[in-house]
Amino acid sequence: MAPGLFVKQDPAKRAMLLTALYVAQEQYGHLTPEAVQRVADRLNMPPGEVYEAATFYSMYKTKPAGRHVIQVCEGLSCHLAGGAEGLLEYLQETLGVKAGETTPDGLFTLEMVQCLASCGTSPAMRINDTLYENLTTDQVDMILQELRGG
Ligand code: FES
Repeated sequence: MAPGLFVKQDPAKRAMLLTALYVAQEQYGHLTPEAVQRVADRLNMPPGEVYEAATFYSMYKTKPAGRHVIQVCEGLSCHLAGGAEGLLEYLQETLGVKAGETTPDGLFTLEMVQCLASCGTSPAMRINDTLYENLTTDQVDMILQELRGG
């Protein structure tokens, strides 16, 4: 569900909400019910509306995530390019988790998103703030190995 009408009609309020959610996520690690309530209190908004925004945008986490959040695009451009499904399958197999899950060691969370703003360079993935494009399985292996510290 898209964020509420109130936020849609007030770009300044929306900008404040998105910033506040970002700061709260940095402080709490993810957007806990307490964090959502604090943002709602600060912005004088209904907590339900804050929660809607928190669950609508892929950069916000309402559940604990692994240290490295891997996002793979399932958007139309990447789907048509044909690289995203293979990348997702490879990551699921390599990490032993499905999309939406975190590895038991807490190191990786695998997520599907609608667009990484990298539509012409599929297959692509974002890990935390770093975008990787035109990936091969060998490159994925090297990236994961580096993030594991080896
Ligand atoms: S549709 Fe996949 S990056 Fe945009």
